[in-house]
Amino acid sequence: MTTMTASPVLTTIEQPPMIVRHARVADAPAIAALVSSWSDQGFTLRRSPGEVLAMIDRFVVVESSGAIIACACVEECGRHVGEVRSVAVAERAKGMGAGKAVLAGVVKAADAEGIKELYLLTKIPAWFERGGFCAVPIEEVPSWWVRERVLNAGRSLEGRSAMCRKVP
Ligand SMILES: CC(C)(COP(=O)(O)OP(=O)(O)OC[C@H]1O[C@@H](n2cnc3c(N)ncnc32)[C@H](O)[C@@H]1OP(=O)(O)O)[C@@H](O)C(=O)NCCC(=O)NCCS
Repeated sequence: MTTMTASPVLTTIEQPPMIVRHARVADAPAIAALVSSWSDQGFTLRRSPGEVLAMIDRFVVVESSGAIIACACVEECGRHVGEVRSVAVAERAKGMGAGKAVLAGVVKAADAEGIKELYLLTKIPAWFERGGFCAVPIEEVPSWWVRERVLNAGRSLEGRSAMCRKVP
C-alpha cells in the first residue's frame, strides 16, 4: 500500500487557527474516539484504536490548540481508485470549517498519490457536493466496488448516496 505521509502538513489555516496534516501513530486513540462518536447516529462506522493504527498513514486530521478536531481517511481500493471514509468533526468544533478543511486535505493527499477516482457513501450528499463530489446513481458505480467494498463488507446502501470525484 502506498503511504500518504510524504509531507506531514497539508494546509495551515489562520482563522480560526487549524493545521491540516497527515495523522501520526499517537493520534490513533483520538481518531478512533472521534469517528466512533458519530456511529450511534449511523453517520460513521465505529473504529477501534487498533483498526485506526493499522491504517494510520491513510488518515488526515485537523489539529487545533493541540487537539484533533476532525479526521478523514482514504482507503485504496484499486489502481488509482480510493474511497473516502471516517469523515468526522468533533461536536464542539462543527461549523468552523474543520470538515471542509479535512475533506480538502484528504482529497489533496489522494491527488498526490495519483488516485483518479474517489468514491464515498454518505447520508449527507449536499455537504459533500460542496466539497467537489457528485452524486452517482448506484447503477453507475462500478459493480465491483459495491460488491466488495459495501455488501461483502457488511455495509448498507440504505439511506445513503454514492458520490464520486474524478480527476480529469
Ligand atoms: C458533516 C460534517 C463533517 C461537517 O463538518 P463541519 O466542520 O461542521 O462543516 P464545515 O464547517 O466545514 O462546513 C459548514 C457548512 O456546511 C453546512 N452543512 C453542515 N452539515 C450539512 C449537511 N448535512 N448538509 C449540507 N450542508 C451542511 C453548514 O450549514 C455550513 O454552511 P455555511 O458554510 O454556508 O455556513 C460534521 O458535521 C460531522 O462530523 N458530522 C457527523 C459525521 C458525518 O456525517 N460524517 C460524514 C460521514 S459520510
